[in-house]
Amino acid sequence: MIIKAFLFDLDGVLTDTSELHFLAWKRLAEEEGILFTREDNEALRGVSRRESLNLLLKGRQVSEEQAYEMMERKNGYYVELVRQMTPANLLPGAREMIEEIRHLGLKQAIVSSSKNAWLVLERLQIGELFDAVIDGNARARSKPHPDLFILAAQAVGVPLQNCLVVEDAQAGVEAAHAAGMKALGLGPRERVGAAELVFPSLESHTAREVLAFFEKL
Ligand code: BG6
Ligand code: MG
Repeated sequence: MIIKAFLFDLDGVLTDTSELHFLAWKRLAEEEGILFTREDNEALRGVSRRESLNLLLKGRQVSEEQAYEMMERKNGYYVELVRQMTPANLLPGAREMIEEIRHLGLKQAIVSSSKNAWLVLERLQIGELFDAVIDGNARARSKPHPDLFILAAQAVGVPLQNCLVVEDAQAGVEAAHAAGMKALGLGPRERVGAAELVFPSLESHTAREVLAFFEKL
């Protein structure tokens, strides 16, 4: 397979916002008298805001209005935390890899389920390194559906089979495969083992090494 574009998930791949999501959901849970632990938070990785709320509520019934209000409240807490982020919040190896891809003249896009993706990119000061940003504001089904990745391939003008997805969530790897793309998984095999190549993180890895691996597939 020849890679012509890298499609990067954002949260958990280029920066670790999962702790900030956790703190914001925990604050909401405490206000609502719901127990919410770090382990509970793991199930929310890569999952949409609405689905995250459903998991947090653990079967507790709420009206649509209440659900909307809770999501808004949590998002307010989350945005407050994101505003404190700086470029130092980029994960090790992230900047090196995206600069290398840019240097090689390949396309790259951000493909995130988050409606806050642009805010996070601004805080990290890396927005201008990407050819396209497809986020949770796109009118599309979220991961594990392939829609966001297909939109990104169209946006960068690269055929689906020449796009490589970089993901930290199981739902993201599933979405890549559903789009007919291959994936580089970041994190434990229990989570991203379905990806064709798995690294613990981007640290100490190069884009050239990834290109060479996928060329043989
Ligand atoms: C994903 C995160 O990128 O975006 C999830 O991994 C999050 O944890 C989802 O729930 C939606 O994010 P937001 O910022 O729109 O609430
Ligand atoms: Mg992610």
